[in-house]
Amino acid sequence: MKRVLVATGGGDCPGLNAVIRAIVHRASKENDWQVLGSIQAFNGVLWEPMEIVELDNKTVAGIHFQGGTILETTNKGGPFAWPVKNNEGIWSTDDRSDEMIRRLRHMNIDAVINIGGDGSQGISQRLYEKGLNIIGVPKTIDNDLSSTDTTFGFQTAVQIATEAVDKLVTTAASHNRVFVLEVMGRNAGWIALNAAIAGGAEVCLIPEIPYDINKVKNALEKRFKRNRGFAVVVVSEGAYPENGSVVFKENTEIGYENIKLGGVSRQLITELAEAGFKHDMRETILGHLQRGGVPIAYDRVLSSQMGVKAMEMAIDGDFGKMVAYHHPDFVAVDLKDAIASPNLITKDNALISTAKGLGICLGY
Ligand code: F6P
Repeated sequence: MKRVLVATGGGDCPGLNAVIRAIVHRASKENDWQVLGSIQAFNGVLWEPMEIVELDNKTVAGIHFQGGTILETTNKGGPFAWPVKNNEGIWSTDDRSDEMIRRLRHMNIDAVINIGGDGSQGISQRLYEKGLNIIGVPKTIDNDLSSTDTTFGFQTAVQIATEAVDKLVTTAASHNRVFVLEVMGRNAGWIALNAAIAGGAEVCLIPEIPYDINKVKNALEKRFKRNRGFAVVVVSEGAYPENGSVVFKENTEIGYENIKLGGVSRQLITELAEAGFKHDMRETILGHLQRGGVPIAYDRVLSSQMGVKAMEMAIDGDFGKMVAYHHPDFVAVDLKDAIASPNLITKDNALISTAKGLGICLGY
C-alpha cells in the first residue's frame, strides 16, 4: 500500500475541503493508495504524540460545501521555524524539518500534498530540496500566487465582498454618505478591484497603486450636489497613500511572522476629512467574513479539479511541483517558479482599463 499525506496550511480558505475530498476520491480509484491527513498543517507530524488521521470516502462525504478545513490549519511556525521557549521564558525558533522528514519516512509516506498559499508553498519547496516527495496545491483568497491563472477561494471572497458593496450602496444612498469598505488581499488588490467593478463602486484603492488623497476627494465630491449624493469606496487592506505606508496592527502572537494589516479604511476617512471633504463617512471592515462559509460553485469545481490533479501527480511521482490552472487545463509547474514572485496587479491589466472605462477612480 502506498501512502499520501495531506496537509492544509496558512489562512483557511473556501474550497479546502473540496480539495481534500477530491484527493481522497481520486486515490480510492486506485487499489494501492491510502490517504492520511496531518492535523493543523504539519503540526500533526511534529506534535508528541502525532495527530494523523486516516481519510476515506466516508470521512470526506459531503464536505465539499463546508467552509474551513476538516484538517485544521495554522499560519504560525512550521517545520523550519518551530516556536520554542527557553527557561527564561524567551521565545525562539527551531528548524525541525529534518526530523519531520525522518518521521514521514518512518510512517512510510510516499507523497505529501501541501495545500496552501505562498508561505506554505515556500515550505513545500524547501522540503522538496531536502528530498521530500511533495506537491503543492495553490490556496488563497488573495489570488497572489504566480504560475496559475487563479487560486481557489478567491472567487468566493470576491462574491462576499461584492455582496457587501451591494448592501452598503443602499444604506449609503439612504443617508447621503460615503461608505469605505475595507477588504482583504494582503499586498494584492484582486479582491478589491473585482468587487469594485462588480458592485459599481465609485473609488477603488489597491496596494499596487499608491493613492493621491486629493484625487480621491475630487472623485467623491463629484458624487454630491449640495449635500445630496452618496458613494462607495472599496479599499484593499494593503493600500497606502503616495509618500505614506500601510496601516497595520500590533502583533503579539507567538510564531506569527506576517504583518497584521488592517485599519486603512479609518485612515482614509481621516485623510479625506483633513483634505477638506465635508460629507458623512463610515467605514466597514469585512475581515474574516471573506474567508468563512461555503465556497461558491466555481470554487468547488476549481478545488475538485485541483485535488484530482494533485493526486494524479502523486500517482505519477511528479514531485517538486504545484498544481496550476492554465485555462482550460490543469498542469504541474515547478514550485520554485510559483513562489518566485507574487501575482500582483499591473497598470496594464485589463481590469484596470475596465475600471477606468467605468469611471472608477483608482486614486491616481
Ligand atoms: O492571506 C489570506 C489573508 O486572509 C489575507 O487576506 C489577510 O491579510 C490575512 O490572511 C489575515 O490573516 P489572519 O487570519 O492571520 O488574520
